[in-house]
Amino acid sequence: MIVVSLINMKGGVAKTTMAINIADCLASRHGERVLLIDVDPQFNATQCLMSPEDYIAHVAGDGDTILKVFDRSQRVIPSAVANPQQAKPKKLEDIEIVNVKQNFDLLPGNLELYRLEMAPGDGRENRLKNYLQKVQNDYDYVVIDTPPTPSVWMTSALIASDFYLIPVKADPISLTGIDLLRSIIEEKKDNFGLNLECAGLVLTLTEANTKVFQRAKENLENDQYWRRYLYPVSLPKRVGIAQGQLEQMHILSGDNSEAKIAITGITTEFTNRVEENE
Ligand SMILES: Nc1ncnc2c1ncn2[C@@H]1O[C@H](COP(=O)(O)OP(=O)(O)OP(=O)(O)O)[C@@H](O)[C@H]1O
Ligand SMILES: [Mg+2]
Repeated sequence: MIVVSLINMKGGVAKTTMAINIADCLASRHGERVLLIDVDPQFNATQCLMSPEDYIAHVAGDGDTILKVFDRSQRVIPSAVANPQQAKPKKLEDIEIVNVKQNFDLLPGNLELYRLEMAPGDGRENRLKNYLQKVQNDYDYVVIDTPPTPSVWMTSALIASDFYLIPVKADPISLTGIDLLRSIIEEKKDNFGLNLECAGLVLTLTEANTKVFQRAKENLENDQYWRRYLYPVSLPKRVGIAQGQLEQMHILSGDNSEAKIAITGITTEFTNRVEENE
């Protein structure tokens, strides 16, 4: 089982879009068994994979979310006839996953992560890794969508991952952020003794004929460190991609052939790099 986090501390660079579409491509084109985990409290990936009605019904029906992995505290159940009872948290291996489509499962996100971050909880960073150990025979790939802000959720995603993939918006400002991201990841690797590799850097939201895109690409191609990580294929900016997300539509099921070629190429580049590293 290979675990990859989509990561960038800059917001709106298409982390979520890449996470769901790479996961979809791995499942539908490569025939891999894929689990997507949404550790972003904003739960955008979940919104792209479940309709609002389905998500509300899921939570109202006591369906599991990422909260079950992180919140291991005992619940107090009030009782009118006896002393209050303590309910044990669900066993990690009993957490129920949502099936999105063939080969593609989701552990949905939860807004409550915001609140949980404020509450004490020792060792919370390691819980996602512990959980993934329980499901390691069930999946070929786990794709984790992370929040843009440094948080215990971002750290736990890195601890649980073998690889990280960086989507970068093709503009000069976004490029400056990736060196900072790299230093933060190196620090986490040292602090937690992680065996974590960069699976690459993908330019996103690109507009091929603009100077901004050409310059961003050239800067990376000439960068001593980053050039070996840069993917030859980038994700073009297309309004249809954003519109489709609201209807839980993925790039491969849409009608934009350029975007389809891009996500197919990006996914193949990703699997090749991962296999080289294995
Ligand atoms: N290729 C694309 N073409 C057009 N719009 C896109 C494309 N990719 C993503 N978007 C849109 O850009 C916005 C940001 O994308 P996305 O949510 O994937 O970024 P993110 O990095 O996950 O953001 P956040 O940091 O808030 O989690 C969304 O509204 C999304 O629909
Ligand atoms: Mg996101």
